[in-house]
Amino acid sequence: MKKLCVIGAGTMGAGIAAQAANAGVPVLLLDIVRDPADRNAVAAGAIERLKKAEPAAFMSKAAAKLVEAGNIEDDLGRVAECDWVIEAIVEKIELKHALYEKLEAVRKPGTAISSNTSTIPLDRLIEGRSEAFARDFLITHFFNPPRYMRLLEIVAGPKSDPELVARVSDFADRAMGKSVVRAKDTPGFLANRVGTYWLQAAINAAFDLGVSVEDADAIGGKPMGVPKTGIFGLVDLVGIDLMPYLKASLTSTLPADDPYQAIAHDHPLILKMIADGYTGRKGKGGFYRINKEAGKVKEAINLSTGDYAKAKKPVSIPSAAQKDLRALISAPGVVGAYAWAVLGPTLAYAAGLIGEASDDILAIDTAMKLGYNWKYGPFELIDRIGVADFVARLQAEGREVPAILTTANGRPFYRVEEGVRQYLGADGEYHAIVRPEGVLLLEDIKAASKPLLKSASAALWDIGDGVVALEFTGKMNALDGEVMKLIEKAIPLVAEQYKALVVYNEGSNFSAGANLGLAIFAINIAAWGEVEKLVAGGQKAYKALKYAPFPVVSAPFGMALGGGCEICLNADAVQAHAETYIGLVECGVGLIPGWGGCGELMVRAAESPKAPKGPMPPVAKAFETISTATVAKSAANAKEIGYLRPSDGITMNRDRLLADAKARALSMVEGYAPPAPPVFRLPGASGKTALELAVKGFRARGLATPYDEVVADKLATVLTGGDADVVDTVTEEQLLALELREFMTLVRDSRTQARVEHMLTTGKPLRN
Ligand code: NAI
Repeated sequence: MKKLCVIGAGTMGAGIAAQAANAGVPVLLLDIVRDPADRNAVAAGAIERLKKAEPAAFMSKAAAKLVEAGNIEDDLGRVAECDWVIEAIVEKIELKHALYEKLEAVRKPGTAISSNTSTIPLDRLIEGRSEAFARDFLITHFFNPPRYMRLLEIVAGPKSDPELVARVSDFADRAMGKSVVRAKDTPGFLANRVGTYWLQAAINAAFDLGVSVEDADAIGGKPMGVPKTGIFGLVDLVGIDLMPYLKASLTSTLPADDPYQAIAHDHPLILKMIADGYTGRKGKGGFYRINKEAGKVKEAINLSTGDYAKAKKPVSIPSAAQKDLRALISAPGVVGAYAWAVLGPTLAYAAGLIGEASDDILAIDTAMKLGYNWKYGPFELIDRIGVADFVARLQAEGREVPAILTTANGRPFYRVEEGVRQYLGADGEYHAIVRPEGVLLLEDIKAASKPLLKSASAALWDIGDGVVALEFTGKMNALDGEVMKLIEKAIPLVAEQYKALVVYNEGSNFSAGANLGLAIFAINIAAWGEVEKLVAGGQKAYKALKYAPFPVVSAPFGMALGGGCEICLNADAVQAHAETYIGLVECGVGLIPGWGGCGELMVRAAESPKAPKGPMPPVAKAFETISTATVAKSAANAKEIGYLRPSDGITMNRDRLLADAKARALSMVEGYAPPAPPVFRLPGASGKTALELAVKGFRARGLATPYDEVVADKLATVLTGGDADVVDTVTEEQLLALELREFMTLVRDSRTQARVEHMLTTGKPLRN
């Protein structure tokens, strides 16, 4: 795909265009002409909004330049330049038909045309179109926001060209980073079909059982593996006014005997809320609202009276029920009753879709996990309850038992057989879960093997072809002495028996950095020797990795902060997921990078072809980045900032990260030699004075706190080489010693300790 066209520059079209641009492909974004004097105004306005969107829609400044605005009156002919046209105009069939008719006249045959419709069946969309058009047509249903939601549902019609569908699917997967799920041409496809049922069932149950919204969200959120917003919190987020719309669209397209029809009723309170402008977070408030007059108090609505009152502490959930779904649905009182009232019907509904909406359970589980951020898919949830128990409970209540549950006959939907993960097919047989080519998951390797090495906070896995993966396993993948010990042990093992090492894991984030909880414990008992050992041990382990006789590739994703960033900086190469938020954030907690981050960042700044010559520019650049605790908003942005090198790789699809990192590591094996240690020429005292002046400027403008100035001073000491003189050279060893010395001064300061404590208790920086 060399060029894309997106028609309709609204919420979805604009977001899809941005994601295609993030993939590095030029995009023509068209909308209607609203102002004859400024014919591209609608699409151009959308691009401007994209640039300011929060969370960001573009991954880099370069991506933003790839979207070009146009209009459908003057520019429709230009679709002939494009390989894929995505229609994302309003959900009105007559408007879509009129557009397709015009498109048919101007497109070149073989150009893929897809609709982003959420409700209109494919066979209705292609009514009146030629066979050739139908061959090139499919539905590509993105989720909002298109950059961040990984799910893409693809629906192909009986006439769609399989080769063209494969081409679109492959591009969406590799270049745009989407996990493609194939759905049948049935109303709502997969995620919204199950999701709408789930939300309706959960809302009904709260009204019927008299459960408060606070309790409903506490029970129906985290314990079920649903995002902690729960149900009402989620509806507030997406907009309460969407509910009647989704309901109308599904009830009008689903057959009369579909179980959704029986539960799809409006609640007068909700209709009144919408009419009064209480449409959720975008409106005056929703099931929850922040009462500013009362001093930013979070309030919740009373479902029986419609009155708001201060949100109450929700019902306490027995600890067993917080982790065990079986315990949750059988818990006494409101907890068990509500949990079952939501899960029983919803999971049964999802199970009933096998055959009709999807041929297999994998597609539905993936759709709910990626489209609704469920931790477990419906069939994984049934497994957690136990198929036999689940069926028994449905039967006891006189509910219909879906065919797939009868087929399962008490057996689980997923199992591991001889190290291979399998799922239960509609044919009653187990089938291996086959990952697409180029997808390698540590989860599969872990199910099939034992770690080569293991400590309390890390493990080492053989991922095949002579490559090992170093996995962090602590809470939030925090780094501590146990990780460092494992690195020290791993190096001789890899050197002797393997070819390369990748640093990778499948947690929610790559790593939150050093374990601050442990650090504060040592600080509180003034165990300075322990703190110093942790810092020095980390420096030693990271440098051992850097100079190991084999290639090391770090594969970050999500947050890679502090020490999590430094392990990437000490690797030979980085293969980052596009959604990597990497940064040296130590200054935020009153510290400086202590595991080699200071030197490594300067090395990168000096390498940059754009960097002015002389000793000061890399120092100033690293100082700016570290002192402001800058965190990249994407991997592409990390290259702009200088955390990543231009040569580091970016993988768009999260599922492809490990395979890409492994391939990268293997490509470096032949003729590998560890890097030569850098030698720094640092500006010494005069450079430090310049940095201090800059900080004073920040202080004067109120951008830095008094203690920021102290921390920045220590950082400046390290980066300028301490007592160095421009004529001296500073070795990496010397710089590490300086880093350690200044780190230890800061860590003993009560203001640093206050920052660390504050971060641990609130998750936010203290601006002292
Ligand atoms: P929107 O209302 O935000 O944007 C629609 C855009 O289409 C507007 O900019 C409008 O000016 C433009 N437009 C209308 N008629 C046009 C025409 N004839 N030619 C060119 N442009 C035209 O709508 P939204 O939410 O972006 O939805 C677009 C499509 O995506 C719909 O089919 C919707 O069902 C689907 N969808 C929406 C999702 C959402 O969360 N909003 C999620 C997934 C799919």
